[in-house]
Amino acid sequence: MNLVETRFETERLIMRRWVSGQVQAWFTIFGDPDVTRFTFGAPHPDLECSQRAVESTIRKSEQEKPLGWWAIVEHASGEIIGTIGLNAMPDREAAELGYHFRRTAWGKGYATEAVRAVVAYGLGPGGCGRILACIHPENGASRRVLTKCGFQRIDAVAYNGNPEERFTLTRHDVTWQVWHGAHLPSAGRRPSSSLRFVPASGCG
Ligand SMILES: CC(C)(COP(=O)(O)OP(=O)(O)OC[C@H]1O[C@@H](n2cnc3c(N)ncnc32)[C@H](O)[C@@H]1OP(=O)(O)O)[C@@H](O)C(=O)NCCC(=O)NCCS
Repeated sequence: MNLVETRFETERLIMRRWVSGQVQAWFTIFGDPDVTRFTFGAPHPDLECSQRAVESTIRKSEQEKPLGWWAIVEHASGEIIGTIGLNAMPDREAAELGYHFRRTAWGKGYATEAVRAVVAYGLGPGGCGRILACIHPENGASRRVLTKCGFQRIDAVAYNGNPEERFTLTRHDVTWQVWHGAHLPSAGRRPSSSLRFVPASGCG
């Protein structure tokens, strides 16, 4: 198994590691105030800012492997439409999930599809016992994505003065179907069935 070069394929998406030079794609996502509205940080003002962010993401992903961040590529167009990642928590038993899609990709079920795949990886061969996700209370679309993927709300807290709701999903919360850890990390294409899983709650 090659956990470092892990990529995932679902029916419509490819999740693969960010590489240097993919700056315009990053800027299209994070330069848009609609995308950053419910996330920490202002929209990127220019390509230089996105350049630094891409390089930092690549470095951080190297350090946090087998976790880290992936670019999300749409099969149909071959374009990068978003990014998704698992940040390792200090105890390495848990990871924090994050995801962002460019505006033109919203409303097609892509976030749900990508979260299911990355969560399956994280709770399987990624080695996490638990995945956390935090949302702004007004981010209804993100709450819906998490709920569809089986996440449970833990509580509402203030983080650096900003309100957020916290959600979690553990290995014990999911009932795996057609899934075998050894088949998941893949340097090549896998049938989407290898990523199927059903939340124990029956959501989605
Ligand atoms: C949040 C985000 C990832 C959702 O992506 P997406 O691909 O549109 O999500 P999906 O299509 O898989 O699912 C969205 C669901 O939310 C619902 N939804 C959309 N807007 C909503 C709103 N304002 N309130 C409640 N539900 C909403 C959709 O109807 C859909 O649910 P359904 O399948 O039951 O109809 C995307 O909007 C985004 O990138 N936002 C900016 C970055 C961000 O907020 N990231 C999350 C940080 S925690």
